[in-house]
Amino acid sequence: MRVLVTGGAGYIGSVAVAMLLERGYDVVALDNLQRGHADAVTEGAGFLQCDLRDASATLEAVSAANVEAVLHFAALHLVPESVTQPAEYYRTNVVGGINLLDAVRTAGIRKFVFSSTAAVYGEPESLPIREDSPTVPINPYGASKLMMERILADFGQTYGIDYAIFRYFNVAGSRGRLGEDHRPETHIIPVALEALTGKREHFTVYGTNYSTEDGTAVRDYVHVIDLVDAHILALEHLDRTLGIMNLGTRYGFSVSQMVEAVELTTDLRLPVVMGARRPGDPPALIADAARAREILGWEPSHSTLDQMIGSHWDWVQEHPAGYKR
Ligand SMILES: NC(=O)c1ccc[n+]([C@@H]2O[C@H](COP(=O)([O-])OP(=O)(O)OC[C@H]3O[C@@H](n4cnc5c(N)ncnc54)[C@H](O)[C@@H]3O)[C@@H](O)[C@H]2O)c1
Repeated sequence: MRVLVTGGAGYIGSVAVAMLLERGYDVVALDNLQRGHADAVTEGAGFLQCDLRDASATLEAVSAANVEAVLHFAALHLVPESVTQPAEYYRTNVVGGINLLDAVRTAGIRKFVFSSTAAVYGEPESLPIREDSPTVPINPYGASKLMMERILADFGQTYGIDYAIFRYFNVAGSRGRLGEDHRPETHIIPVALEALTGKREHFTVYGTNYSTEDGTAVRDYVHVIDLVDAHILALEHLDRTLGIMNLGTRYGFSVSQMVEAVELTTDLRLPVVMGARRPGDPPALIADAARAREILGWEPSHSTLDQMIGSHWDWVQEHPAGYKR
């Protein structure tokens, strides 16, 4: 099967490109390189430099790609940035998404997998979070992803596109030469490792008085390899619409536990300072991923803290300056 991977030069998309190639898929990556890295696109994949905000360029690129399925990772995803630049977030994540879907239906593509996020749940009332929990996003990023979910469902129904929507919890870990290199970086493991290697002065714990066991925020972390596995399983099952599936492990780890695990895995002391809560950070996000297990037979097998931190630590040591731009 030939597959288009949007955001294929980004963190998760680049791992998807590599794993698809290894499993015998033909792959075309599409990215505008606004946040991605050309170096991260594995040899053997086609590459289209295209901005999804440009409808006619997107139409041309998707038709040239000549694929049967699309994995749509391209997006902007920094929550604070989405609050200060809402137009950019809606333009990329919603307008860009519509441009892509229009090109998909014009090209007669019938399989579509969409990267959504736990941010659609906002501040959940109960845990673990199921897919039918209320969706009340509290920032433009989460709102833009929820809008795209709805738009995809409408396109699916009208144009006969079979789709899967994955709501990711916290994605972490690296795979071989492919690692997480966001600029700016906001995710906990790379940020902590930047504090270990002196790229940052210290690691800040945001909030120590949450209603959690140790007072720090709790999150559900999933290894990028397990996450991409779910996408490949979805491609294999997409002879019908699969709907919405959470991707997480059902294990929550607090920020304090993460600090401890980073120190244990690297055998180094992390310089930590305690800070105030950030607005809009819920106390705990933990996934109920039973749907992905039932529908796809998905079972995360790389998502221990040790595997996620250890793989990224190896990557940082091999790529001290990250990717070449
Ligand atoms: N990383 C996580 O923990 C996480 C959690 C939940 C959801 N997600 C979702 O997963 C997807 C991938 O995340 P990531 O961490 O790999 O992000 P990333 O920033 O590393 O990759 C996104 C890629 O999309 C590209 N892109 C952005 N705007 C574009 C446009 N207009 N046209 C073409 N390409 C464009 C960027 O250049 C980048 O390479 C996103 O949709 C994100 O919302 C990620």
